[in-house]
Amino acid sequence: MMKNLLQPRELLRALAPGEPVSGEALADGIGVTRAAVWKHVAALRKRGLPVDARTGLGYSLPWPTQLLDADAVAARLEDGAGSLEVHWELDSTSSELARRQDGLPDLAVVLAESQSAGRGRRGRAWLSPPGLNLYLSCLKRFERGFAGLSGLSLAVGVCVVRALEDAGVAGAHLKWPNDVMTDSGKLAGILVELGGEYQGPCTAIVGVGVNVRLPRTVREAIGQPAVDLAELAGGAPPDRNVLAACLVARLRRGLAMFEEGGFAAFADDFARLDWLHGKSLRLDGARGAFEGVGAGVDARGALRVRTADGEVRVDSAEVTVRAT
Ligand code: BTN
Repeated sequence: MMKNLLQPRELLRALAPGEPVSGEALADGIGVTRAAVWKHVAALRKRGLPVDARTGLGYSLPWPTQLLDADAVAARLEDGAGSLEVHWELDSTSSELARRQDGLPDLAVVLAESQSAGRGRRGRAWLSPPGLNLYLSCLKRFERGFAGLSGLSLAVGVCVVRALEDAGVAGAHLKWPNDVMTDSGKLAGILVELGGEYQGPCTAIVGVGVNVRLPRTVREAIGQPAVDLAELAGGAPPDRNVLAACLVARLRRGLAMFEEGGFAAFADDFARLDWLHGKSLRLDGARGAFEGVGAGVDARGALRVRTADGEVRVDSAEVTVRAT
């Protein structure tokens, strides 16, 4: 990697413990001028990282963080590291897997400290400042085409909530099809992108973004209620490398299970975590809007909604669902 790309990472590494570091010490440590330190601090701030500067004390982050480290993640994976990469910055971890999929093994995982063009569902951007949250994608190949993949994104949601539980975070639920929710807002997002043959070998690129710490500016820019792990855990979120390992382990195991048995193996867990169940809902889609009450999902993962005219099943994620 070019040196000037490494400098912001080294700056963040020096600030990660959360203690103030003088501009001079940072400049010496990274091997740049103090003006360059200032420039990198300004760039980190622009990306949403609230780097504080105090006369006589230096620069600091308001809380400690951990830089992502492939060895630290791999060390916690019982089945070995497999193909696991950590990048400082990518356009999108999912785009990276899409570009390189032919050269990567099944269940390859890519993580990035930051994304310059992180993608959410329905063409939305996924804001991805460095050093705060988690951005991860996993490649999964399937042999039997798209038809067998109904319910995949719900199954991934179950894996993500299980991983959060493994990391000590309780209270997350799933809003169909796959938003990870708490009563205070959205905690994580999942984007499953399919490619390949409709009835033959195909690929799912599973992207997961988890809010570990959302600074105020990022939270305001998101445009919908969002919550982070720091808030849920009373100020001390799980170590990012531990959380990454929990996610990688649950996703790899879960995707292999899905290949064997489809959504059936996840249906009970989804029902336990179903955030829409029993709630009054408003659904908007291509065929207009209607209201009803969430009544779980069917064996294919379609949302069941009880309306005044009977039960409606919704299997298109292109419908927006709001609890009213
Ligand atoms: C959503 O809209 O809820 C889905 C968000 C998915 C974001 C993740 S972050 C890692 C991966 N890379 C991306 O560009 N998007 C996904």
